[in-house]
Amino acid sequence: MKETLFNLQGKKALVTGAGRGIGKAIALGLAEFGCDVGLLARTQAELEQAAGEIRAMGRRAAFAAADLSRVSDLAGLVDGLIQQLGGVDILVNNAGINIPQESAQVTEEAWDRVVDINLKAAFFMAQAVGRVMIAQGRGGRIINITSQTGQVALIKRAAYCASKAGLNLVTKVLALEWAPHNILVNAVAPTFIETDFTRDMLADPKFRDYALAKNLLKILGKPQDVVGAVIYLAAPAANLVTGHVLLVDAGWTAH
Ligand SMILES: NC(=O)c1ccc[n+]([C@@H]2O[C@H](COP(=O)([O-])OP(=O)(O)OC[C@H]3O[C@@H](n4cnc5c(N)ncnc54)[C@H](OP(=O)(O)O)[C@@H]3O)[C@@H](O)[C@H]2O)c1
Repeated sequence: MKETLFNLQGKKALVTGAGRGIGKAIALGLAEFGCDVGLLARTQAELEQAAGEIRAMGRRAAFAAADLSRVSDLAGLVDGLIQQLGGVDILVNNAGINIPQESAQVTEEAWDRVVDINLKAAFFMAQAVGRVMIAQGRGGRIINITSQTGQVALIKRAAYCASKAGLNLVTKVLALEWAPHNILVNAVAPTFIETDFTRDMLADPKFRDYALAKNLLKILGKPQDVVGAVIYLAAPAANLVTGHVLLVDAGWTAH
């Protein structure tokens, strides 16, 4: 059992937003557990660096630098990476942004940018990869990185909260539709994690206090704190888990 529960040897994984932060930690974690990994984000230099680290572990890595909010490009990007890796078993939809604004000030442009990458691109990535998984006929795993803010409100984040709550429910719809193909679809919903994404916010002592206010453990997360949840949902250990949102929130939503 020890050898099989978390064995991902030879599996092929795609990770979006894999150049830095949580996505890079997930990509490296999947490689450590045995996966070949395809990486997507816009910044080529960060993808090259991450791919080099994965190859140094003896795994295959491929990458494509692209803006994933250009939804019409997604199927081609996915097909290119899958050809290089020789198939696909796991998709981690991690790419995301946040543009904090008071609701009275939110612009249509900012709303669209957040929802386009966090929700729309994640759905169409799942569609592109899901179609291949269905055709391959060997099942698969799709893991969406959402947020505690998919379940609880946070000020100045109307679009962000909407995108993450939306992706939590899309996760369940896909789980329903694709269960007959043994494609298991789940989400991982972190609390505040220290990355470039939160660096400026957490540099403000008031915000830092707020970020710890409902955190029962009084510790801000690190990218690697999210990795274990993703490995679990990608692995045989989660063979009976689908349509689930796994909170990695230090108890934020418990009270
Ligand atoms: N950090 C937190 O506190 C926290 C908490 C809960 C949930 N999350 C979620 O976790 C995910 C990762 O967050 P993070 O903190 O690791 O963020 P990050 O450090 O800012 O990294 C975001 C990644 O997404 C990529 N990305 C952004 N927009 C993209 C686009 N249009 N096309 C392709 N790639 C794009 C970025 O690469 P490029 O800029 O090179 O494209 C980067 O690789 C996000 O979905 C976020 O909402 C984060």
